[in-house]
Amino acid sequence: MPQRKRYLFVCVNRRPDGVPKGSCAQRGAEGIHVQLKAALAERGLAKVEARACSASCLDVCWAGPVIAVEPDGYFYGRVTPADVPEIVDALASGRRVERLVLPPEDFTEATAAPPLPAPPRGAPPQA
Ligand code: FES
Repeated sequence: MPQRKRYLFVCVNRRPDGVPKGSCAQRGAEGIHVQLKAALAERGLAKVEARACSASCLDVCWAGPVIAVEPDGYFYGRVTPADVPEIVDALASGRRVERLVLPPEDFTEATAAPPLPAPPRGAPPQA
């Protein structure tokens, strides 16, 4: 396999229910990773342009689900399944989805924007 132009690291870390910090998996990151892989393959981008990888905690849990885009060096945050097509469209055209890019203040919990709500306990995983 050739080296891809970009690697998208989707945090799929899961903490136990009830841990106040929460985790990206509790907010649907596992489904987002699967959806992103499928969308990249469907668009013919998976072999050369970008690979969607799973990652452990990227230490911006309050902004999850998060995706680190390398080698560009930016993070998408508060990603939902509805955002995946736009992320893939942007990759295909050499852009990024600015509204999802975390600003510097989001890398510190005290100055970050509010987190997405976690789904209620027992809710099925988000696709
Ligand atoms: S759990 Fe995803 S960044 Fe920490």
